Amino acid sequence: MVQGGGAASVMRIEPAAVLDGVLSPPGDKSISHRYVMLSAIAGGTTTITNLAPGADVAATVDCMRMLGVSISAAGDRSVLVDGRGWSSLRKPHSVLDARNSGTTMRLLAGLVAGRDLEVTMSGDESLQRRPMRRVIDPLTAMGASISSEAGRAPLTIRGGGLHGVEWRPEVPSAQVKSAVMLAGLSASGESIVIEPQPTRDHSELAFPAFGLRCTVEGAAVRVPGSQEAVAPSGGRLVVPGDPSSAAVWCTAAAAVPGSHVVIENVCLNPRRLGFVAALRRMGADIRTEVTHGAGGELVGRIAVRHGDHTACSIGAAEVPDLIDELPVLAARAALGGSLDVTGASELRVKESDRITALVEGLRALGVDADERPDGFVVRGGRPRGGTATAAGDHRLVMAFAIVGLGSRDGVSIAGADAVSVSYPQFAADLARLRP
Ligand code: S3P
Repeated sequence: MVQGGGAASVMRIEPAAVLDGVLSPPGDKSISHRYVMLSAIAGGTTTITNLAPGADVAATVDCMRMLGVSISAAGDRSVLVDGRGWSSLRKPHSVLDARNSGTTMRLLAGLVAGRDLEVTMSGDESLQRRPMRRVIDPLTAMGASISSEAGRAPLTIRGGGLHGVEWRPEVPSAQVKSAVMLAGLSASGESIVIEPQPTRDHSELAFPAFGLRCTVEGAAVRVPGSQEAVAPSGGRLVVPGDPSSAAVWCTAAAAVPGSHVVIENVCLNPRRLGFVAALRRMGADIRTEVTHGAGGELVGRIAVRHGDHTACSIGAAEVPDLIDELPVLAARAALGGSLDVTGASELRVKESDRITALVEGLRALGVDADERPDGFVVRGGRPRGGTATAAGDHRLVMAFAIVGLGSRDGVSIAGADAVSVSYPQFAADLARLRP
């Protein structure tokens, strides 16, 4: 139950005897952003069902509307996008507001950089602090003109006339890769992104669904220039459930003795399942089963039973495949065993400084936790609980909620309405898993 609004909103989590049940998580956030953007530039209409319900994807929908795209509600969590090819995009009359969403800003920067438009994009305080040089540099190398506040939003993009590029990002980032891929669609010649480590490949999988070509050879993704998208066959795409939301229930079930939770209709893209391998090492009985495919993605179920947690380490090689799940994995470790994370300095430039805010919150709940420059250490037990502050970060709300489930006295989370960024029905789904 969330009481109050904004930073004053508080969620109260009482300890749980057990978690038990079956549920489907909301539609995947990463895939939803991509489907909305690609259907907007496609020729023909696309109905997207099970669209992610949170504020981040709503920000992408609103930005696309401000760019002139017609997007209408088509029933519960479905939208109808009336794509008119590249001519869908027109100069907006005011600043596009990406709110809290890094994916909106970085992917949209790539999409509009290829067009003969002038677009200014900004976002909330958190987004204005986050690094944008990582997309400004490749898009500028392709020929766009971008002004910024020292590499931060607001960004003003004057696009068009791009040429292909070979780009080697310094940090592994699907947002950077996708920005170059989207800009590459409008460039002359081929664009190539060579990643330092593989990252989520939702753009590579979504492109063919819209008749767009790209090829993957080892670490290199190649996008031919001057492409036109078409609406997917049948004019319909279904977004599979979000593995990052599923991970919350998987870690909660892994942590609370006697629990058994089944998550259905969830995206089982291997690049998103690092948390499954980590939870298994942490002692959980966790199984995945692919049931079908959708839009090039694997979809299926995850079943989890509690298991006693032992010591676990996560290093740089694993981080891109579980970057968004590190807070809930920390919460699992707070309830027994230990977790030592290194090579994850990217956490410092997420919606909050997720290393400092996570460790401060865990300590406030009585957990033994320490920061590292590029990660953290958590030594678990039975924390007493108390009040933790979410620092405006949806992933921290859910991590502190898991600690609450296994705590002695329960947990209050200040600023809990940040959870609506990715999982507005979080509290309702939690209530369904309490017998
Ligand atoms: C995302 C990529 C990741 C992830 C974010 C969503 C995407 O960010 O943390 O939540 O949809 O491409 P980075 O590209 O910054 O690693």
